[in-house]
Amino acid sequence: MGKLTILNHPLIDHKMAKIRNKETDAKTFRENVNELSGLMAYEITRDLSTKEVEVETPLMTTSAKVLSKAVVIVPILRAGLGMVDGIHMMIPTAKIGHIGLYRDEATLMPHSYYEKFPKEIADATVLLVDPMLATGGSVLAAIDSLKRHGAKDIRYVGIVGCPEGVKALEDAYPDVDIYLAALDEKLNDKGYIEPGLGDCGDRLFGTK
Ligand code: PRP
Ligand code: URA
Repeated sequence: MGKLTILNHPLIDHKMAKIRNKETDAKTFRENVNELSGLMAYEITRDLSTKEVEVETPLMTTSAKVLSKAVVIVPILRAGLGMVDGIHMMIPTAKIGHIGLYRDEATLMPHSYYEKFPKEIADATVLLVDPMLATGGSVLAAIDSLKRHGAKDIRYVGIVGCPEGVKALEDAYPDVDIYLAALDEKLNDKGYIEPGLGDCGDRLFGTK
């Protein structure tokens, strides 16, 4: 079974309070999603493998450690884009892929409209990012696509999840570890997470 990690940290909680608040404007919302994602990067990469290299300090030769495996960040468009810069800042060598999916408002089924991955995808640690894990349909479709392109080491990184989405993901892909900043109470009958933060894409991009 994949590991479920809820990142408990005072700075993350503080930023969660900001993005949950309906009075928070789009600029502040975007900044906090970004910063929160950067803070999450520290924990989600804790067990990445490293290799020893020799470096010359100004004084002598010494051994140091660098990441031994490529990292690819894959946001699910649109809302996943809001998390990319924060994580990329912490892992500047990461390549970035994109998956475009939108959820049909009536059926809640994901529809695919775009895919582009770097060539490293099959051998990399893939950080699939999408702030909201609601029914889980979008993340499941994205993982299916990543696996079809050869990805084997996939971690899902989200901000708010709910028990329904976590269960769907654990049942379908027990090999994928799940990282969330908060696990909320439930999904409502419109497919929104409660208490949640509303429609993340709309709040990031000001489309409502
Ligand atoms: C939202 C969100 C997730 C998805 C989660 O995207 O960003 O991708 O819904 O719901 P699910 O777990 O039930 O699939 P949306 O389809 O609204 O598109 P957007 O990011 O373009 O706003
Ligand atoms: N997508 C969102 O943006 N918010 C939710 O609560 C559920 C899906």
